[in-house]
Amino acid sequence: MVHESKDRPLPETVQERLPDSLFTQHIYYFPSIGSTNAYAKELAKQGGAEGSIVIAEEQTKGRGRMGRKWYSPSHVNLYFSIIFRPPFSVDRVFSLNMLVALALVDAIDNMTGMKTLIKWPNDVYLKDKKTAGILTEFSTNKGMAEYVIAGIGLNVNWDIRDKSELKHVATSLAKEIGHPISRVDLLIKILKLLERYYQLLLKGQDSYIYNRWNELSMVIGREVIVDSLRVRKRAWVKRIDRNGALIIKEENGKESSIICGDLEVLFPSLSGA
Ligand code: BTN
Repeated sequence: MVHESKDRPLPETVQERLPDSLFTQHIYYFPSIGSTNAYAKELAKQGGAEGSIVIAEEQTKGRGRMGRKWYSPSHVNLYFSIIFRPPFSVDRVFSLNMLVALALVDAIDNMTGMKTLIKWPNDVYLKDKKTAGILTEFSTNKGMAEYVIAGIGLNVNWDIRDKSELKHVATSLAKEIGHPISRVDLLIKILKLLERYYQLLLKGQDSYIYNRWNELSMVIGREVIVDSLRVRKRAWVKRIDRNGALIIKEENGKESSIICGDLEVLFPSLSGA
């Protein structure tokens, strides 16, 4: 049974449950904020420590990828941003996206038994509808990552009837499982997994993350329209590479790698891939 009034991801609650985690040493909590990513970015610019997290109950200017908005109603979902300072060159920054998506998928599975899939570059899908998104923003210096902000929006107990225009594209965990889920328990699971996967990445043992990502991808082998840097092209998805880039085969047979963009999945296709 989840008591909404007790199920608050307050710093003291999270710290008590995970006292030694990299991600519980500096927690900033807001009942309402514009965007946790915007706040975390400012914090990072001012030297905020690696592992700092910014959590909000509601966002009034929640940001999505490609300048989109992230609908962030109060007290029902998880909205948080994490500061990473990995010793990575720019081309490896996207691997953090991979680890965050994987932590979300595994935490949802551990807690609810529900199987989600990943739609490149960073969406978590449940029954063909989006249930979580990740917004990664970073700053570089001399080709190295200075900081990376991973912002996570996860629809947990949101009643999707509250936003009819999203009902065909979005869902929440509670909607699919049929009862509310503890946001605190879920956050704890996510943070634990994030720490485990981040250590793997730092040790260069990233094949686990990379292999799982390919297994969980809902676009591999599918025909898609790739929209990248204002160019749209039709292609088949072959795989996701170690750095999180999408490897596609174009209509002329040429293989190329896409680092950023959006995908529109056409119909299932086994030929050509
Ligand atoms: C997307 O799918 O377009 C990414 C959505 C990311 C939303 C999260 S909610 C917490 C963090 N703060 C923001 O303003 N955005 C991210």
